[in-house]
This record gives sequence, C-alpha cells and structure tokens, in this order.
Amino acid sequence: MSLKLSSQSMQRVKEVMTHYPNKQAALLPILHIVQEEMGYVPEELEADIAEIVEVPVVKVREVLSFYTLFNRRPVGKYHIQMCHTISCTLCGHRDLLKYIKQKLGIDVGQTTPDGKYTLSVVECLAACETAPMMQINDKYYGNLTPQRIDEIFAGLT
Ligand code: FES
Repeated sequence: MSLKLSSQSMQRVKEVMTHYPNKQAALLPILHIVQEEMGYVPEELEADIAEIVEVPVVKVREVLSFYTLFNRRPVGKYHIQMCHTISCTLCGHRDLLKYIKQKLGIDVGQTTPDGKYTLSVVECLAACETAPMMQINDKYYGNLTPQRIDEIFAGLT
C-alpha cells in the first residue's frame, strides 16, 4: 500500500479491508479515514486509493463527487452545509443563507480568512422535518432562524 497517511490511519485502512468480501467495498470507509486525518480527500491521493481498492481512478472521483459529505479541498474548522432542497427552501433557506453570507462575509464555496468557517450548500440531508436546517461538521441544526443561527455560531469556539 502506497497511501501517504499516518501509521495509525494506515492500520485502520488495513483493518477495514478485512471487513469486506472484496476490496472495492472498502472504498467508502477508506475515504472516511482519509478525510478524518486530513480534513478532506486530496486529489493527489485518489490514484493511491484506487490502487488499494482495485478500481479505476474515475470510480474514486465519481464517489467523491456524488457524496457531499466528502470534501475535495481543505475546509475551515467549521464546515457549514446549508440544505437547499425543496423543504428547506420552502421554509426560508434562501433568506437564512443570505444572512449567514452577510454574517461571515463569505460566499458559498468560500472559507473565512481566519480559516474558521467554510460555507457550502448541499442537497437534502434527510432531516426535512426540521427544515430549514444545516449541518456543521458532524452535527445537525434544525428549525433555523437568524436568532438561532446567532446562538449556534456563538457556541462555536
Ligand atoms: S429538504 Fe432540507 S433536509 Fe430535506
């Protein structure tokens, strides 16, 4: 294996590969391990990952572009992912997104100069009952209002 990760992460990669009947099935968990260590999945590692799980590089790219939970470039300490699918849109997503953009001084796809926040929009996060909602790192926040957004951001250190 030629993947450039810490020895701990490589150990996890080796272990996870023993959990599946074929190497290809380990692709998603391996991508998670890479992202946990690096914060994103660097393009330069795609070929190594493909070699390990014995799939074409294009397959790795397809998976990375399909799942918005994988970052393809570095993100800030807090990755804000606003849902912009129908339920969240009907419940005011657009105004809230505008509010966050003004509050942080960045547009979608950008990171604040201090590296603290990255703002993205994503498809339905399967929490429509709490629309409008967003995900920050691994945590979901629903029933958003400008006031609630202020409170959430105030709690991020
Ligand atoms: S539409 Fe936003 S969580 Fe489903």
